Amino acid sequence: MHRSVEAEFIGRTYDDFLLRPQLGVVPSRRDVSLRTSLSRRISLELPVVSANMDSVTGARMAQALALEGGIGFIHRAMPIAAQAESVARVKRTYGYVVEQPLSLPRGTTVREARAFIARHDTTGILIEEAHGRDPGGIALQPGPTVARGFRGSGRRSIHDSHRAARDRSARHHHRGGRAADVRASHREVAARRYSSQDGKGRLLVGAAIGARGDFLERAAELLRSGADMILIDIAHGHSQVMRGAVEAVRAKLGDVALVCGNVGTAEGAAFLRDLGADAIKVGIGPGRGCRTRLETGAGVPQLQAIREAWCAVGDAVPIIADGGIRDDKDIFLALISGASSVMLGSMLSGTDEAPGSLIEDPSTGEKRRIYRGMTSPQAVFDALYSDEARGDTLALDIPAEGQEIQVPYKGSVLAILHRIRGHLQSAVSYAGEETLATARAKVLPDPLRYLIPLSPAARTESYER
Ligand code: XMP
Repeated sequence: MHRSVEAEFIGRTYDDFLLRPQLGVVPSRRDVSLRTSLSRRISLELPVVSANMDSVTGARMAQALALEGGIGFIHRAMPIAAQAESVARVKRTYGYVVEQPLSLPRGTTVREARAFIARHDTTGILIEEAHGRDPGGIALQPGPTVARGFRGSGRRSIHDSHRAARDRSARHHHRGGRAADVRASHREVAARRYSSQDGKGRLLVGAAIGARGDFLERAAELLRSGADMILIDIAHGHSQVMRGAVEAVRAKLGDVALVCGNVGTAEGAAFLRDLGADAIKVGIGPGRGCRTRLETGAGVPQLQAIREAWCAVGDAVPIIADGGIRDDKDIFLALISGASSVMLGSMLSGTDEAPGSLIEDPSTGEKRRIYRGMTSPQAVFDALYSDEARGDTLALDIPAEGQEIQVPYKGSVLAILHRIRGHLQSAVSYAGEETLATARAKVLPDPLRYLIPLSPAARTESYER
C-alpha cells in the first residue's frame, strides 16, 4: 500500500469540510486550466464524466460532454446494436468532416463558398485558422453560423467574413444578444478550446458493459463502433467476478482502455490497479438513485472512499469519483482529496440532452423528467424486456437497490457544464493556484493543511440558506 488514509477522513463526506482560502494568484479565473487525467492514457479539459445510466447518457449527452471537454459513458440497458449505434453517432459528430474533408483554398470568396456549399449539399464548412494545423485546430461552422457568418459582400474572403462573424457573436454575447447567436458562437468556441477529441479529431466517447452474459460480444461491438474506453461497471468491483471479466476482456480484445468499478476502499482500488485498470471508479452507495446502504448496510462515505483509493494507488491510476455530488463544491473537494474526475448522474439529469421524455403537470404546467437508479424496478424491467437484452444479466450483476424520482426540467446541460467550469476555476483560485493540476499537486500530499473540518454549527452556517 502506498500510504494509510488519514484518520480525519474516516466516516467523512463532502459536507464535512471547507477549503481554507489561500493567497490568490490568478488575475482572472477564466485563465485557470482544468486539465486532468481521465485514465492512464486520456486527458480531459473538464474533469466531468456523465453516468452510464439510462436516464442520463445516450448519444446526445455524450456529444455535449465531449464538446465541453468531458466525456460521456453510454449506458448498456439496451441491445448491443443500439448501444453501438449510439457510440457511432458520437464519433460521427465530426468524423464526416475530418475523414472526408471538402476543402477550399485560402482567399476563396463568400460567393464561391456559397456555390460550393450548394453544389456539395452540405450544411457547413471548415474554416482553417492557420496553415498546417491539425484537425483539432479547425473551427466547425454549423449551419446557422455559416448563414450568419457569410452575409455581406460576395467578393469578401471567407476568412475575413468568418472573423467578422466571430466578432459579431462576441458583441451579441456582451449585449445579451439573441440566444441563437450566443449558442452558435459558444459551440464554435467550445469546439476549438475544450472539446475532447481522438487523434482523428472525432469526439471522445466511452461505453459501459457488464461482467457476465453478452459482455464480451458487447465490448467488441462497441470498440468496432469507435468507443475510446470500455467501462466494466458492476456494483461490487472488488470481486472475483471483476477479475474474471477483466481477464476475459484482455484475452479477447487485448490492450483496450478499461475503466473498472465500483470500489470504495484502499484494498478495492489496489485490486483494480493490479488487474491493470486504466482508471478506477470509486463510490459504494453515495448515488442519489441508490439504496444500497439503506438496504444492505454496506458502503463507504464518499470522501473517505476517494481518499482511501488515492492513498492506495496515488495518481498512477486516475480515480473517477462516482455518485453523491450535489453541489459544485463537492466536485472540487473530490478532486483535491484524490479523484482526477467526477461522474455525475442526477446533476446532469432532467436536461434536454438526457434520454427520456418530458412530463408536464397539466394543472401547474410544471415540467419534469425521470431520474432513476439502474437497479430501480422500472429500469430493470425495461432492460429485461427490451428484446435482445433479455439474455443480459444487468439485473443480476448489480444488487436490486435503486429508486426512481422525478426531477425538475433543467434546459440544456451546457448551462450546467459552464457553471461547473466557472465554479471549479474559482475554487482553484481560492486554493492559491493557477491550474487544477497544481492545486491537486499542492493539496494531495497533505490535505488536512488545506481542509477545515466542520462542526454542526459551521455546517449550518455554511449550507443552510
Ligand atoms: P448521482 O448521485 O450523481 O449518482 O446521481 C450517480 C451514480 O449512482 C450509481 N447508481 C446506482 N447505485 N443502485 C446503486 O446502488 C442503482 O440502481 C444505481 N443507479 C446508479 C452509479 O454509480 C451512478 O454513476
